[in-house]
Amino acid sequence: MAGPQDLKALADRAVAEIAMCADDAALEAARVRYLGRKDSEVTRATKQIASLPTKDKPAYGAAVNEAKARIESALQSRSAALHGASIDSSLRERVDLTLPPRPVRIGRLHPVTATIRDVSRIFGTMGFETIEGPEIETDYYNFEALNIPPGHPAREKWDTLWVSNPLGDDPKVPLLGRTHTSPMQVRVMEKRKPPIRVVIPGRCYRYEATDAIHESILHQYEGLAIDEKLTMADLKGVLYSFARQIFGSKSNVRFRPDYFPFTEPSAEIAFSCVICEGKDPQCHTCGGDGWIEAAGCGMVHPDVLRRVGYDPDRYQGFAFGGGIERLAMVMSGTPDIRLFAQNDLRFLESF
Ligand code: DAH
Repeated sequence: MAGPQDLKALADRAVAEIAMCADDAALEAARVRYLGRKDSEVTRATKQIASLPTKDKPAYGAAVNEAKARIESALQSRSAALHGASIDSSLRERVDLTLPPRPVRIGRLHPVTATIRDVSRIFGTMGFETIEGPEIETDYYNFEALNIPPGHPAREKWDTLWVSNPLGDDPKVPLLGRTHTSPMQVRVMEKRKPPIRVVIPGRCYRYEATDAIHESILHQYEGLAIDEKLTMADLKGVLYSFARQIFGSKSNVRFRPDYFPFTEPSAEIAFSCVICEGKDPQCHTCGGDGWIEAAGCGMVHPDVLRRVGYDPDRYQGFAFGGGIERLAMVMSGTPDIRLFAQNDLRFLESF
C-alpha cells in the first residue's frame, strides 16, 4: 500500500535529477516525467488516493501536494541557474581582457581660459587682485557712470543686446549685455576705499559685424589702480611689465594719445608684434605694421572719481582695458578670432 514516505522518496529523486539537468530540453523532459498531466509520476500517485482507506486519504493527499511543490520549485531554480549561466558565458565572450585599455581622454584649458589665467597671474605679481563682475549690466554702470550720458556719440560704437528687466521693466533700470569690463571700475570704487588694485576678466557683448578680428561675444580684462600720487608713469610701468611677462623680454609697448570719456588723458596701447617682429609686410598678426593695438588706458577721469565719492585732489588712478582673444591670437599666431568660439577640437587641441 502506497504511503506518504513513497512521495517523499519520489520528490527526493526528482529534485536530485532536476539539479543535474544541463539545458532547457532536459529540464522540460524532467517536468513532463514528474509533473506532466497524463502519465507522470505525480499524476499516478494522485490517482492512488481513490483506492486508499478514508482515514489515510488526508495524510496522503498532503504528501502529494508537498512533493509537487518541491518538484516545481526545483524546476524553477534550476531554470534560473541555467539562464543566469548562459548570460554569464555570453558576457565572457564579449569582454576580451587581453585588449589594451582605451586611452583616457583628458580635457585641456580653452585658450581663452588659459589666457585669462595668464593675465591674472601676471597682474597678480604686481599686486592686482582678480575679481569678476556681472555680464548683464545697467545702463548706469555701463555708460552713465563712465561719463557716457544718453545721446553721447560713444554709445553708438558700443551698441549691444538690451534685455528685459525681470524686476518689471523699470524704465529707469535698462539692462544690457555689458559692452566692456569698464563698468566694474565704478562698482569696485563704490564698494572699496583706496588703495585699490584690481584686474577684472570677463565676457562682453557687442553689436558687431563679425570678421577675422571682431566677434560679438568677446572677453576683456580691465585693470584699475587708485591711490594717492599715482601718475601716467605708473600706468606705463605696469603695462610694460605686463607685455614683457606675457610676450617675452623682446616685446615693446607703444602709447598713442586716444580718447575715452572716462579717462583723461587717454591712450591707446599697442604691443610690438612678436610673430614677425615688424619684418614681414604680409604678417597675419600685425598686418605688416609691426604693432598690435591691444588696449585702451588712461588716468581715471575726475568726474568718475567724484561720482563715487572720491576726492580727485587726493586720489588719482589709472585704468586699462583690452581684449583677451587679442592676446591669445598673438601668443598662438591664430589668424581668426572666430576660431575661439567654434568648438572645433582640431583647433582646440593644437594648444
Ligand atoms: N572699455 C574700453 C573699450 O572697451 C577700453 C578702455 C579704455 C578701458 C580706456 C579702460 C580705459 O579702462 O581706461 O574699448
